[in-house]
Amino acid sequence: MKDYIIKCLMENHGGYVSGEYLCEHSGVTRSAVWKYISNLREEGFGIEAVAGKGYALTEIPDVLCGAAIEYYTENTKFWKRIIVINMVDSTNLYVRSLCNLRIEEGTAVFAACQTDGRGRMGRVWHSPDTDGIYMSVLFTPDLPYGQVPVLSLYAAMAVRRAILQVCGLECDIKWPNDLQYKGKKLCGILCEVIGEINNDFCCIVGIGINANNKKRSFEKDIRDVATSIMIETGMNVDRCKLGAAVLNHLERLYKGGEFSIEEYKKYCITVGKDVTVIRGKEEMQAYAYDITPGGGLMVKTADGRHKEVNSGEVSIRPAKE
Ligand code: BTN
Repeated sequence: MKDYIIKCLMENHGGYVSGEYLCEHSGVTRSAVWKYISNLREEGFGIEAVAGKGYALTEIPDVLCGAAIEYYTENTKFWKRIIVINMVDSTNLYVRSLCNLRIEEGTAVFAACQTDGRGRMGRVWHSPDTDGIYMSVLFTPDLPYGQVPVLSLYAAMAVRRAILQVCGLECDIKWPNDLQYKGKKLCGILCEVIGEINNDFCCIVGIGINANNKKRSFEKDIRDVATSIMIETGMNVDRCKLGAAVLNHLERLYKGGEFSIEEYKKYCITVGKDVTVIRGKEEMQAYAYDITPGGGLMVKTADGRHKEVNSGEVSIRPAKE
């Protein structure tokens, strides 16, 4: 109900909405509406009340709020369910549990913080409260199983576009789906496929964006290689606006046919570089020269062989100069 009230107020862009309207459309009494408004004020929403006019939204606090995210998702046809949780182990794990319940695609889960945030290659994704954006989305793509990793490239493009639109920052993509700003990591994406080749399968795309992190909030071991939008712009990021922008761009890329490998390659700093391909303890020097339609990286090894490397098995680091 609180979400419904915020949505009505937001849709009025700071204009007044009468108490009568809120009662009629929400099906609760005037005193219940008043109680919800008081609760919202306690959560930090600025709501002005004027006799004879109604309520107007004057301030939105820096909290993750489902109604705000829904408001910013532009007339979406794809995002049917946006779930916002205060604390969760991992949004990817949460979506996985929904997968088992056969929830339809177009579900997005956001959390204010994670207690067991996961990164690629079994790494930890440190997820402190209010700093970052932690979100996971569910797709059941109409793609051959082998091409599903391309979804993580869609996600990288969506985040790149969203950060540019909302925060004015031009990021680079490090294959397959890290976003970097001036060589430091700003966003990581964890793509997990659930199911088997010949059966139904779905894909969970988990996105972690360093939004409002201060330098000291990063763990010591990544402090020199990570950055945040706040560190780079000096501005506080509206996580609802940015999270919604990611959903908007994902919808356009995934459903609206806007994705192209050519555009991805334009922003991918890995292509055209000497790289070290790391598979477990093995390392191989190669030259990265292309991206396949399934999102693989084409490399030429030092002994002249051409290989496609897959994002699930390897990580890449620039070769030493
Ligand atoms: C990486 O290692 O670069 C990928 C990091 C992915 C982190 C995000 S945060 C939201 C989602 N939930 C998780 O547990 N991980 C992903």
